[in-house]
Amino acid sequence: MSKSVLITGATRGIGLALAQKYVEDGDLVLVGTRDLNRGLDVVDELRDNGGQARLLQIDLMDHGSVMQAGQWIGEQFGKLDLLINNAGVFDDHDIQASHEDSESLHQTFDVNVLGTYLVTQQMLPWLEAANDGMVISMSDELATFANFAASTPTTGLGQRISRMGVNAMTVLLQNELRGNVHFRAVTPGPIASNPARKGAPVATAVDLIQKIDQHKDSDWDGKLIGPSGILPF
Ligand SMILES: NC(=O)c1ccc[n+]([C@@H]2O[C@H](COP(=O)([O-])OP(=O)(O)OC[C@H]3O[C@@H](n4cnc5c(N)ncnc54)[C@H](OP(=O)(O)O)[C@@H]3O)[C@@H](O)[C@H]2O)c1
Repeated sequence: MSKSVLITGATRGIGLALAQKYVEDGDLVLVGTRDLNRGLDVVDELRDNGGQARLLQIDLMDHGSVMQAGQWIGEQFGKLDLLINNAGVFDDHDIQASHEDSESLHQTFDVNVLGTYLVTQQMLPWLEAANDGMVISMSDELATFANFAASTPTTGLGQRISRMGVNAMTVLLQNELRGNVHFRAVTPGPIASNPARKGAPVATAVDLIQKIDQHKDSDWDGKLIGPSGILPF
């Protein structure tokens, strides 16, 4: 059955590939973007291919835009089946833990933690109104204490702390709202989402997210899911 899917950061990379795939599957995609012009181009392209798509301006650093997006979804649809918290920043992958700068850390936390939380919070009434509403949030397997024990790289501290925040959010919201909405964090591994990035094809991340979406059993609720299944926090 066709469902409504809000994807943040849906104009490039994994977010765009997700939008294309969900539209192809016959779902209604709400293209979340901070850039209206690029968003319009994406919506036009999705519609030209016969799909259902709507534009939704969401800048995770502009809390007013997040509130307005929540209000708009309530007025237009009164429910939301799936929220994919895809938008995020990862600017410090080459920076050693002892060399982070405060501006970059602020932006990382503002977008990846606070912005992701506020979007989720604003969509909760509409996710609860849906049957089997679900939130899938981008995380990282390097952002777990289980992984810190191993000899992992000592770079990307901001990204990793911020994704630990996403993991915590996933568990706490799930514990509070058990039975109403499914909350899951996803770690697709390195993905070649642009030509400069090494990793698996974008389709790998899309397939994993769709597998998580289709898995309605509660054993994946409040968990971090990678290609091999549940990963320890
Ligand atoms: N690629 C990987 O290997 C990998 C692995 C694990 C997790 N992830 C995470 O998965 C997500 C998608 O990955 P990707 O490689 O496709 O990332 P990407 O190419 O860097 O795209 C990031 C997306 O987030 C959006 N964004 C950034 N700041 C925003 C803000 N303040 N408000 C709204 N949107 C904002 C960007 O919008 P603009 O186009 O406007 O800049 C863009 O659409 C990211 O959160 C990333 O950190 C990626």
